[in-house]
Amino acid sequence: MRDALGALESVLVLGGGSDLAVATVRELAKERTRTVILAGRDTAKLEPVADELRSAGVTTVELVAFDASKPETHQAVIDSVWADHPDLDLVLLAFGVLGDQDAFDQDPAAAAEAAIVNYAGAVSSGLAVAQHLKAQGHGTLAIFTSVAGERPRAENFVYGSTKAGLDAFTQGLADRLHGTGANVMAIRPGFVRTTMTEGMPDGPMATTAEAVARDVVTGLRRGAHTVWSPAKLQYVFAVLKVLPRPVWRKIAAQR
Ligand SMILES: NC(=O)c1ccc[n+]([C@@H]2O[C@H](COP(=O)([O-])OP(=O)(O)OC[C@H]3O[C@@H](n4cnc5c(N)ncnc54)[C@H](OP(=O)(O)O)[C@@H]3O)[C@@H](O)[C@H]2O)c1
Repeated sequence: MRDALGALESVLVLGGGSDLAVATVRELAKERTRTVILAGRDTAKLEPVADELRSAGVTTVELVAFDASKPETHQAVIDSVWADHPDLDLVLLAFGVLGDQDAFDQDPAAAAEAAIVNYAGAVSSGLAVAQHLKAQGHGTLAIFTSVAGERPRAENFVYGSTKAGLDAFTQGLADRLHGTGANVMAIRPGFVRTTMTEGMPDGPMATTAEAVARDVVTGLRRGAHTVWSPAKLQYVFAVLKVLPRPVWRKIAAQR
């Protein structure tokens, strides 16, 4: 439950090691978030993150095994988190894989595995979270989609297509829960320098996990349904989305 001053006291992170999610939790810890559950496929890898959050003032940090590629397990994992923490203020759905389009071209099964993680895994875990937020009558599910879902680029269109699906899921779920007290927020970052993009040249308007985290926290504070980060990408994509295909193809190939 939010505290008397409106701060989010408890957070569940699906994809607990995500740089974007951890930066967001760090930012929230400054505002008195005191319970954090990090869910990921390798809990040992999450230990250093847990230690760091404890030093940042989070009093309770727990680690939970969660594999996004196994949708059939998600209801039980989410139910068990809620059994231990019956009232959660925020769920950050942050897992995802970028993949390599050249490799996907040669290995369709690998492309489908990425689609299962980014889309199917988010559908099953997102719906399980939605049940609990609706039952408790408050709380926010914030989902990292991407501007990559706004218009597919040939260079990473499998990833882009999963994010387009995920963004549509996020909007639909938000409307489905409207009026229940539970909120769903889409986070649409542009290119962010994180583990996911390590070694890649900066995309246009490249930003940092810390800057995205500040935008997310501002969005949560004002109950936004969508957070673009950086914010100006909203206007950039309003134009990019309506460009004729040959023009878009040239622009998308340049970066
Ligand atoms: N960085 C960007 O430019 C950017 C831009 C727009 C949107 N996004 C989205 O933002 C989210 C966070 O990305 P990030 O930049 O923070 O990248 P990141 O640091 O690489 O985080 C991705 C997380 O997903 C987890 N993950 C991958 N497969 C999983 C699985 N099967 N089960 C459970 N967890 C799994 C990873 O865990 P492991 O450590 O176990 O691999 C990792 O913790 C992603 O959804 C990404 O698509 C990123």
